[in-house]
This record gives sequence, C-alpha cells and structure tokens, in this order.
Amino acid sequence: MKKLLAFILCAVMVLSFAGCASFRPYSEIEADGKLIVATNATFPPYEFIDDNGDFAGIDIEIIEAVGEYLGLEVVIENMEFDSIITSVSTGKADIGIAGMTVTEDRLKNVDFSETYATGKQVIITSSESGIKGVADLAGKKVGVQTGTTGDIYASDDSSIGSVEQYNSGTEAVLALSQGKIDAVIIDNEPAKKYIEKYEGLVIIDEEYTFEEYAMCIAKGNDELTAKINEALKALEDKGTLKSIIDKYINADTDEK
Ligand code: ARG
Repeated sequence: MKKLLAFILCAVMVLSFAGCASFRPYSEIEADGKLIVATNATFPPYEFIDDNGDFAGIDIEIIEAVGEYLGLEVVIENMEFDSIITSVSTGKADIGIAGMTVTEDRLKNVDFSETYATGKQVIITSSESGIKGVADLAGKKVGVQTGTTGDIYASDDSSIGSVEQYNSGTEAVLALSQGKIDAVIIDNEPAKKYIEKYEGLVIIDEEYTFEEYAMCIAKGNDELTAKINEALKALEDKGTLKSIIDKYINADTDEK
C-alpha cells in the first residue's frame, strides 16, 4: 500500500513538473556559450534549407548576427512549426525564430522579443479559380500550414468549406497545384517563393491581415528577452537588420 502511494505521489509530481514552464536563464546560456534556437525551415525567405543543405534565410541570418553580438554559438533545432512554442516554453530551446506572428493567444504561453519584421496573410489560388478575395473562399477547400495564423484565420472563418492542414506551406501549395484544394492562406513573402515553380498560381492582392514577426522566449525569461532586444537594437542601429532583409526581399517593392 505504501509503495503504491509513493508511486502515485511520484507520478503526480512528475506530471505537474512536466506542465511547468522552465527555461535557462541568460547566465546559464552564457556559461554554456550556446543559444538553442527552434525553427521550422520550410518558410523561405525567412528560413529554409539551401541547395547545400545549410540553414538559410532572413531569420537564420538575424539570429546568427544576434549570437555574434552576444558572443554565443547559435545551435538551430529544426522542427514542426506547431512544436516551436512548446519547445521554448518547456526549456528545450532557448528561443524560437520562425517568421512567427505575435498574437494574443501565443502571448499566454510565451513572451516575444521586439518586432523585427512585418508580414501579411494572402491567398494563393489558381488563375482559373475565380477566387478574387476573402469573400470568394466561401464553401471552398482552403489549405494552410498547421498551427500558423493562416490556419487560425481560416479555421475561424465559418464560411470556408473546409480547412486542410499541411506540415508546410510547400505541401499546401503542391496540393493546390494538383487541384486537391482551391486556395492556400499563407504569409506574403513565402507565398511569392512557393509559387515560383508553378505555372498558373496567383497571389490575390487583398490584404488579409497585418502581422508583426518576433522571436518567442519562455515566459518570464526576462534577462534573455532583454539581451535579445539589446542585440536587435544594436543590429538595427548598425543597419544590419535592413541589409539582411533587403538581401532576401526586393527592397523597392516591399515595406520590410
Ligand atoms: N506568420 C505565421 C505564423 O506566425 C506563419 C509562420 C510560419 N513559419 C514557419 N517557419 N513555418 O503563424
């Protein structure tokens, strides 16, 4: 009986710890010399795997520059987009950078750094679909990347026929090109990259939402958040942020 009670007590303790937020404070990260970064490298031009098999993109270069400023080695952990927040809030990764939009809901689970870029959700469809804007999505099959803001908006829009979730925008756009779905809701810059290799896919120029991208950090890891913001500010002042963004996004046609 005593053994059973002890076992139950242990199980309860383990379970309650598992649900707790935990993180490495900055002093610990500094002593280790490594910043563990969670991302989902399926999202060009923000993060993707280049032809040499290396991580590349705006977010990758920004976090590398932040690491350099702080004197930390950046270790990238590639995972599903909807695992990033859990990974950061349970302390498996110190920070997440993934073209991630700051939302009220996410703020319940993680803190965010200062905004370093902006985006918007757009609709990708085929030029023959007749879809000209959000209203035309009524009754249609819409593809999204699981757990993204595109997924959240589509799922909240009861006029949409069905929301099909994919592991990446690439897979959603592939399904669109094969006629399996009618449209994809996704961030504007990745949308441009995703359609590059397909003929007959178009981006509908109706702004769905305006969004701000920031890095997510475990709730209460204030020391780390302050260091990241200090680094971002320094990189902004030096013009590094702008030159990284300009390198990947045509500076004449886009705001950021
Ligand atoms: N901005 C959108 C969001 O926060 C999409 C981000 C997707 N990022 C990625 N690396 N797959 O939900």
